[in-house]
Amino acid sequence: MRRKFSIAAVGATLALGLAACSGGGAGSSTDDASGAAGGDGGGQLVGVAMPTQTSERWIADGDAVKAGLEEAGYKVDLQYGNDDIPTQQSQIDQMITKGVKLLIIASIDGTALANQLQAAADADIPVIAYDRLIRDSENVDFYVTFDNYNVGVQQATSLLVGLGVLDEAGTAVEGVTGPFNVELFAGSLDDNNAHFFWKGAMDTLQPYIDEGVIVVPSGQTDIEQAATLRWQQETAQKRMEDLLTSTYGGGSKVDGVLSPYDGLSRGIITALQNAGYGPTRSDATPMPVVTGQDAEIASVKLIADDVQFSTIFKDTRKLADQAIVSGTSFLAGEEPEANDTETYDNGVKVVPSYLLTSDIVYANNIQALLIDSGYWTAEQVEKGQA
Ligand code: BGC
Repeated sequence: MRRKFSIAAVGATLALGLAACSGGGAGSSTDDASGAAGGDGGGQLVGVAMPTQTSERWIADGDAVKAGLEEAGYKVDLQYGNDDIPTQQSQIDQMITKGVKLLIIASIDGTALANQLQAAADADIPVIAYDRLIRDSENVDFYVTFDNYNVGVQQATSLLVGLGVLDEAGTAVEGVTGPFNVELFAGSLDDNNAHFFWKGAMDTLQPYIDEGVIVVPSGQTDIEQAATLRWQQETAQKRMEDLLTSTYGGGSKVDGVLSPYDGLSRGIITALQNAGYGPTRSDATPMPVVTGQDAEIASVKLIADDVQFSTIFKDTRKLADQAIVSGTSFLAGEEPEANDTETYDNGVKVVPSYLLTSDIVYANNIQALLIDSGYWTAEQVEKGQA
C-alpha cells in the first residue's frame, strides 16, 4: 500500500547529505561535517517515540535522530515512554493530534501499538519502526535496524571465544572440549529483537550443547525460561542469584553466561561477584565469560577492566542517520531504499527494512572500534561514565 503525501519535496541532496551526517555518538556531541545544515524541512513536525531513558543507548538514539532532523529543518517532538506501554501509546496519540508528518517509533511492546498505527494511517502519516519491529499491524511502512539474527550469532560466538572453544577468527581450537557450565539469558519477549538475538545465539550454541562441550546445568534452555521482562537489570540479577542458589550450591562453577544486553550483564555480574566470583576474570575464582550488547560505557569499562568479556557494538549514530534518510524519503513522497525485503514479517506483512551491521567488542579492540570511531573517548572508558 502506497499512501500519498501532500508534503513539500525534500531535495535528494539533503538525503545524501544526511547519509554522511554523523548523528552524534552515545554521549558524544554531534559531529556534522555533512553540510546538511539549513535543510528545507520547512519546519514540518516529526514525532519520535523512544522506549526508555534507563538505558543510555536510547538517549543517544533520541538525541541523534532529533539533532539530525532539526539540522535538516524539521521540528521534532521527542518523547520517552518510561518503559510503560500506556504512556507510549498516549505520547503517540498526542503526536498524531499535534499533526506530525512522520512517526519514528522504537516501541516498548511491539504488539501494543496497532490502534496508534491505524490512527496514523488514517491521517496519512508514514511510520518507521526504529530498531524494534512493530508487530500485528499493516500500518508499518519501513523498518530501520541492525541484522538482529547476526547480533545473536555474535553474542554466542564471543561466548565460545571466551571459553576458549573458538579463537577470535571463529576457528575451532584443538582439544578444547569442556564441558563448560553455561547459563542463558534472553531479553523481553514483547520485543521482537529478543527472539532474533536468541535464535541467532542458540543456532550457534546448539551444536556444542549437542556434543556436550557446553552444558546448561539449570536445564533452562527455553526462551520463556531465560526471558527478562522489559530488559530489567534487577530482574536478571535476581534470576542469576536464584540460579546460583538452586543449581550451583554443591560447589560446581559457572563458566559462562549468555547475556543479550549490557544492562542485564551488569546485574548478572553483580550476582556473581556477590557469590564470590571474580571480581575479575583473572582472579582465583574467575568471573565467568559474560557477553552483552550495546557497548554501554559502564560495560565497556568492565570489559577494559577484565570483568565482562564482550559486548556487541551497534553504532546508534548510523541507525539515526538511516532513520533520517528513510524518513526524508517518505516526506518527499518517495519510498525509502530497503536492503532487506524478506526477513521481518510482523505477523501481517513483511516490512521493508534497512539493516546495519554490528561488531563484537573485546578488551583488545575497544580502541579501534569505540575510541578511534569517536563513539566514546578514552577518558570516558577510563571513568566508565559518559
Ligand atoms: C535493542 C538492543 C537493546 C535492548 C534493550 C533491543 O530492542 O535492539 O540494542 O539492548 O532492546 O534496550
